[in-house]
Amino acid sequence: MSPAAFIDAIQQELQRTQYGQYPPELYDPIRYIMSLGGKRMRPLLTLMGAYLFTDDWQKAVRPALGVEVFHNFTLMHDDIMDQAPIRRGQPTVHEKWNHNIAILSGDVMLVNAYELLLHVDADKIKAVLSRFNRTAAEVCEGQQMDMNFETRWDVTEAEYIDMIRLKTSVLLGYALELGGLIAGADPESNQHLYEGGVNIGIGFQLKDDLLDVYGDPAKFGKQVGGDIIANKKTFLLIEALEQAQGDVRDELTNWLTRTSFDKAEKVQAVTAIYDKLGIREITETRINTYFERGFTNFEQINADPARKSLLSQFARQLVERES
Ligand code: IPE
Ligand code: IPE
Ligand code: MG
Ligand code: MG
Ligand code: MG
Repeated sequence: MSPAAFIDAIQQELQRTQYGQYPPELYDPIRYIMSLGGKRMRPLLTLMGAYLFTDDWQKAVRPALGVEVFHNFTLMHDDIMDQAPIRRGQPTVHEKWNHNIAILSGDVMLVNAYELLLHVDADKIKAVLSRFNRTAAEVCEGQQMDMNFETRWDVTEAEYIDMIRLKTSVLLGYALELGGLIAGADPESNQHLYEGGVNIGIGFQLKDDLLDVYGDPAKFGKQVGGDIIANKKTFLLIEALEQAQGDVRDELTNWLTRTSFDKAEKVQAVTAIYDKLGIREITETRINTYFERGFTNFEQINADPARKSLLSQFARQLVERES
């Protein structure tokens, strides 16, 4: 089995899936955001999770797409909250249409996600949906914490890790666990899948924070520097606030408290402070730590080692990703 077969299956399902027709202002943005691509990492994780325990991984394809639709819904709303102009190299939905359209299209996407998740064996529906509901509520909790942190200066690293665990990582954990649930895996294995996904998800969001500063704009597909402009309490900023002293600290505080500034100038100045403090290397080390924890979780899963290594190999590529 190669990941290409999983990718093809997701691609075909994406083409088959109908989101709705009328009024077009409601449904066009869904087709738009879903057509912009992205890594499709979450449905891939679901299929790989299922394949650990069954050859019949195809039965996980529709619900896997449900997770991808949910993810895209969170992006549509996240881009409003983060005032993000670009997503996957194209204008965000609220920029191309408007805020109300992005809110309502996102709402109906959540409904579409539930519809896709229903396509599991009848005896699995309750577990699949109750675990999903918990996850979806946690994503909202993490997103609210992320926004609350924008105006706080004393956010600790522990608070930050908790916030990203909620806004990002639990969905990766759920994507993997969903595969296990559909395939009828034992509860312990599902727990290891979930925890492995959460640890990898923390590494994944740390990498996202890093790319937001150091990514190549042509490959990243989002506005580089957006987190700096919005004073997001990313790992990089929290680390810099902990380390900076004297003049460097004054300069950083000055940029963070200014109400009027040139965006490009702020991004350049704060990035230079990160460079001076070696924040990039510290972040990279931390990314590796969380990915390694995830791989250790995967080792505990009660499944064929060759199938497990397919999953770990796929996850390893996420450490080096540029988009
Ligand atoms: C972006 O997720 C949001 C985060 C959790 C960092 P992805 O980086 O998976 O976005 P796409 O789906 O590949 O575009
Ligand atoms: C978003 O985190 C997590 C969710 C979408 C729930 P970010 O705000 O960092 O994601 P990007 O960078 O916009 O993709
Ligand atoms: Mg955000
Ligand atoms: Mg964002
Ligand atoms: Mg980001």
